Amino acid sequence: MSKIKLIKAREVLDSRGFPTVEVEVSVDDTRFAGELCTGRAMVPSGASTGEGEALELRDGDLKRYQGKGVLKAVKNVQEKIAPSLIGRDFQLQSLLDDALRDLDGTPNKSNLGANALLGVSMAFLRAQALAQRIPTDQFIATHFGTPGTTLPIPLMNIINGGKHADNGLAIQEFMIVPAGFDRFSEALRAGAEIFHRLKKILQKQGLSTGVGDEGGFAPQFTGAKPHEQALTAICQAISDSGYQLGEQVFLALDSAASEFTDGQGGYHFEGQTLTSEQMIATYGQWAKQFPIISIEDGLSEHDWKGWAMMTRTLGTYCQLVGDDLFVTNPIQLKRGIDNQIANAILIKLNQIGTVTETLETMKLAAHAGYRTIMSHRSGETEDTFIADLAVGTDCGQIKTGSASRTDRIAKYNQLLRLEERLGDRASFAGLKLYEKFKK
Ligand code: PGA
Ligand code: ZN
Repeated sequence: MSKIKLIKAREVLDSRGFPTVEVEVSVDDTRFAGELCTGRAMVPSGASTGEGEALELRDGDLKRYQGKGVLKAVKNVQEKIAPSLIGRDFQLQSLLDDALRDLDGTPNKSNLGANALLGVSMAFLRAQALAQRIPTDQFIATHFGTPGTTLPIPLMNIINGGKHADNGLAIQEFMIVPAGFDRFSEALRAGAEIFHRLKKILQKQGLSTGVGDEGGFAPQFTGAKPHEQALTAICQAISDSGYQLGEQVFLALDSAASEFTDGQGGYHFEGQTLTSEQMIATYGQWAKQFPIISIEDGLSEHDWKGWAMMTRTLGTYCQLVGDDLFVTNPIQLKRGIDNQIANAILIKLNQIGTVTETLETMKLAAHAGYRTIMSHRSGETEDTFIADLAVGTDCGQIKTGSASRTDRIAKYNQLLRLEERLGDRASFAGLKLYEKFKK
């Protein structure tokens, strides 16, 4: 590793036009004395956030960006983090991240802000990879102790609801899962073709084809069962595109159910208030009608009793993913593993705030046999770190939006580059990942 020479932060805009933190870390070049290698990173931002997430520091000054400015976090990087780290030589990413955590001194990064810490953590990793002339994904693989050759299955969110759209759908994400292909590029092609086919289907039904935060359509279905209408339209788009439903392409949901609970154990759903049991029964019914392979945050992050029941009922044939439930936090995940809650975890760097803690959570998941899914946030940037992280850790799945909006496509394009660079060494996670769930 090499010495940190410079740390710089600035306020930039994310995909929703709100401010976020960008950081540059420069380190000594290991080959050319006197030269610097600079890594740059941008931090994403969620909308349907879990309560246990690390703190995203916002200025709260209503005269700027509706209070969402990040000048305080930028100042923390420049005035508190930089002076203490510049001139130091961290031999490992984990030592840098330990220093960041020590500087902050709180369990949820509420002192300096997780957005300040994460920007430095990611930019430092990139700078070190550059200094050593190793591509970022391979640098991560070396650290994580994995081959770094698996291209992930894309979980593509082609209908947006919940907090990411204004269309009355309680469920936030309707995803297609093109798993039955030999290569990532073929899976991505299928996903994009299905997305375009869906547009035609929605147009025929007289529905809007404007897109939501993650680039999926956000139609206002008018029937009594809008969720089934959405699932039906997607299945038709898959078949009409010439792909085999339930053989090549599957469906996945992210309910983000914490967003539609009534706080007393009930769920506001299609004009009714449902119990946890009724929500589970609804999912069970859908899984019979449609090839649903994965359900994320199917119940609220506070409904651990319901989650235990859901895992017993659906967990044998469905991937059950904890996002708001686990918030990429090893302590929360451990609690889930100990209580046999869920069987997979969504991985979001900014939920926990450093690269090292993210990797620690992923290791814990892998040891317990839980699957890991690398994820974007609904507020994104052109940064493609998660693509490198997905391949570098061989995690097998990535959730990074639909086949539109450059903030989402940037990640897919980076994965295409990685597939090309890996050449014959590249493998695609593919159907074998879901073998256990085959009905
Ligand atoms: P968020 O949504 O980034 O708004 O939290 C993504 C998700 O819930 O998976
Ligand atoms: Zn989610």
